[in-house]
Amino acid sequence: MCGIFGYTGSNVANNLIFDGLKRLEYRGYDSWGIAILKENKIHQYKNIGLVKKDKDLEKLPDAKIGIGHTRWATHGGVKKVNAHPHISTEKDFTIVQNGMVENFDSLKKQLLKQKAIFKSETDTEVIVKLVEKEVRSGKSLKQSLITSFKKLEGRNTIAILDSKQNKIYAIKNGSPLVVGLSKDGIYLASDSLSFSPYTKKIVVLDDYDMVEIEGKNISIFNIKTNRKKKPEIKTLKYQYEEIDKGKYDHFMLKEIVEQQKTINYATEYTLEELKPLLEAIRRSKKAYILGAGTAGFAAGQIGYFLRTIAGIDAQDVKSYEFRSYLPIITSKDLIIAVSQSGETADTIEPLEILKKKGCKIASFVNMFGTTISRMSDYEYYTNAGPEICVASTKVFTAQSAWGYLLAMSLAGKHTTAHRRLKLLTKSLNSLFTPSSFDYLKRMCGVLKKSEHMFILGKGENSFIALEGALKIKEISYKHVEGFFAGELKHGVIALIEKGTPVFGIIPDDHKDNENKDIISAIEQVKARGALTIGIGSEQYSKLKIFDYFIPTPQINSLSSIANVIPFQLVSYFLSLQLGNNIDKPRNLAKSVTVK
Ligand code: G6P
Repeated sequence: MCGIFGYTGSNVANNLIFDGLKRLEYRGYDSWGIAILKENKIHQYKNIGLVKKDKDLEKLPDAKIGIGHTRWATHGGVKKVNAHPHISTEKDFTIVQNGMVENFDSLKKQLLKQKAIFKSETDTEVIVKLVEKEVRSGKSLKQSLITSFKKLEGRNTIAILDSKQNKIYAIKNGSPLVVGLSKDGIYLASDSLSFSPYTKKIVVLDDYDMVEIEGKNISIFNIKTNRKKKPEIKTLKYQYEEIDKGKYDHFMLKEIVEQQKTINYATEYTLEELKPLLEAIRRSKKAYILGAGTAGFAAGQIGYFLRTIAGIDAQDVKSYEFRSYLPIITSKDLIIAVSQSGETADTIEPLEILKKKGCKIASFVNMFGTTISRMSDYEYYTNAGPEICVASTKVFTAQSAWGYLLAMSLAGKHTTAHRRLKLLTKSLNSLFTPSSFDYLKRMCGVLKKSEHMFILGKGENSFIALEGALKIKEISYKHVEGFFAGELKHGVIALIEKGTPVFGIIPDDHKDNENKDIISAIEQVKARGALTIGIGSEQYSKLKIFDYFIPTPQINSLSSIANVIPFQLVSYFLSLQLGNNIDKPRNLAKSVTVK
């Protein structure tokens, strides 16, 4: 949440910061701002809404140094005055922040008593005022930043443009910050993807690292240990020149179609590469799989595969609900963290506690050099490439497919898993034909009239029902609930009225009694007038109980991974017809780095 970008070097900072913020928009997009430094004078531009150019932005003089920010509001509404950067009274420094000052209230009260004047409602301005106070007492800006930062509670990362010394300072805690080293200068950002076109050489900062950037030089000092640190330079495996939509109108559709490749990229791991983790799982007493949001549902899917295919005692846990498991988790248990961004605060918090308990941590992350992968004893990557649409699609199937590979490898069927996964990706083509899209569009024309929809899944498709519902609600803003089909007669059925859309996921590789349960659930809602939609094995399309049917490829226990794709497509086409912002749905952020 919130994106930070900074640059100093020989190129024009204005354009680089603007382009960087466009790439960081997924982290928050309610407002944004840029500050550049020209001849020791700070010039600022702020606006509400998406990052785009206008006459006032063009009026900023070209500069070689500056910082920028995309905001996801926490303290204070979406107003220009609350957008970052927040400049000091003397206009000698300006600050951007990613995170949340948890003791904001008490700090602000103290500052108000000392007659500080606030223009915005943000917690960031509290930091500005704290720093000003220290500067007034005679400290250097650097020392003032350190003293003030130590007073902040919560996960906070800040970047400061210093007009007097022509420098950028930044301090990291919790929220991510990466430095990019390029021939033309130094980049500073919340993720390495945002400066990917310019360099592959990065320095990942640790908590409480303060980086001082002057021209093309950086120095790092840890404010907790009071020690200078030699920058540890890493080279990224991939560099993305362009992150664009290609022939698609939206990143979402591009990313949905890409699943024909990304499922394979995530599961290219050889037995040799997986071996350390396989052995750790075998050695462990129990495997806990943690994740939040879509990654939480992928954790459910991975747990299902580990239990049913490999007989492993595996339990998925929503990372934000891990506390009740703390009394029973011991150092003999293994933790598998699943995350697209690798920066989700809800997931990092339990990992920090469990690491202290002595648990080994494995992670499956999409972004490189992130907090979660750096905390891990066993580091694995989705390799799905940048996922820009806020709603996760290709990373979910990558995570689930990796769980399948893991389980099959533990069961001694690594080669079979690779063969089936290849077969699956080849057969996904049937979901992306013009006639399949036309059918879905027609169906969405009917669905858009309903405010409530339900999705029923069972066994391997239980979590697909939950993820399918999340996908549709995230972008269409419709009320969609996914349920384990068994819940129907225990309550859900009371909500069914004439015309209520109910999806039933019905694969052909389930044990007969499981499919019988789904069929009888659909019969029961149909009898109460529901509009029924089947997703799964084509053989059931002939049943009279379904008003619509979307056949999916059925490859052994992999059909669940195929079954989620029609929900992604329904989410896309429905939201398109509703005229919603598909890649940047309201109120959401792709990387949730605050609690
Ligand atoms: C947010 C995003 C979701 C994502 C979740 C967990 O809610 O909007 O798409 O699933 O965070 O994020 P992670 O990066 O840990 O997968």
